[in-house]
Amino acid sequence: IKKIGLFTSGGDAPGMNAAIRAVVRTAKYYNIEVVGIRRGYEGMINGELFPMDVKSVANIIQRGGTILKTARSEQFRTPEGRRLAYDQLVKHGIEGLVAIGGDGTFTGARIFGQEFDFPIVGLPGTIDNDLYGTDFTIGYDTAINTVIDAVDKIRDTAESHDRVFIVEVMGRDSGLIALRTGIASGAEAILIPETKRDIDALMDKLEHGRKDKSSKIVMVAEGDDAGGAFEVGRQVKEKFPNYDTRVSILGHIQRGGKPTCMDRVLASRIGSAAVEALRDGHRNEMIGIIHNELSYTPFEHACKHHIEINANLLKIVEILSI
Ligand code: F6P
Repeated sequence: IKKIGLFTSGGDAPGMNAAIRAVVRTAKYYNIEVVGIRRGYEGMINGELFPMDVKSVANIIQRGGTILKTARSEQFRTPEGRRLAYDQLVKHGIEGLVAIGGDGTFTGARIFGQEFDFPIVGLPGTIDNDLYGTDFTIGYDTAINTVIDAVDKIRDTAESHDRVFIVEVMGRDSGLIALRTGIASGAEAILIPETKRDIDALMDKLEHGRKDKSSKIVMVAEGDDAGGAFEVGRQVKEKFPNYDTRVSILGHIQRGGKPTCMDRVLASRIGSAAVEALRDGHRNEMIGIIHNELSYTPFEHACKHHIEINANLLKIVEILSI
């Protein structure tokens, strides 16, 4: 393989730049040319392609976001859009692709790869950690550290005012951010889409739990059935008018910031492995790390609906919040 294309797609995640750097530098190491594609599939369709060299990825390992920019492309969902994208790749002599993104990115990659018999490998880049085939996705560690930093601050004011705080964290369909940060910030309860009726358990806990706690933190994943932090807050206020309840939605601060050491090392390892995988003839696979070893998972299995919540972590929330 002589020339590869590289892009980021879907929601950005801290550590994507470290992955871009690793792909470009590993490719150079093996004498493979790299073409950067801006704005994901959208830029591929529009011909936003440019050559990348070792220098073009200098001084980015520590930066959040993605220097390649990102987008969610409607056009790529259509066969016409994918044909335009394919024509651009052929025009630039690209023989393989490295896609950095999440579930939607890999669904697109799988369809495109099969349609045009085109070699693509994927790197899991999403703060949600909701992909099967890797213990952690690029960006998750940074995001959960951002969350606990914010919740520690919320706890200071919650404790001073004896308040209940309902804190909403990201995770469109996944409670993995809420679960870990709930444990790490000593939350009273967590509400996540993977468990049903946890709102009832929360109400029960607030009613019958220890009365001598002056402040309480409840973590809600944005994708939970309960309807988000404002709705949970409304219900708590209605049922417990004597509690001083506040809602805080952390939002997009969770997507930014300097990647942690864990995210930089993960991104560097799998970024490098992506180039080697293309050289070795891998295609249609996401590269991750499981138990500290590289792993290769077909795109169709990498989807989030395969993820199971670790029951032990759920139990810990319950035990430690007595
Ligand atoms: O998939 C990552 C994520 O941050 C989700 O947790 C969240 O639901 C979504 O992206 C937000 O997307 P956008 O930035 O397009 O509003």
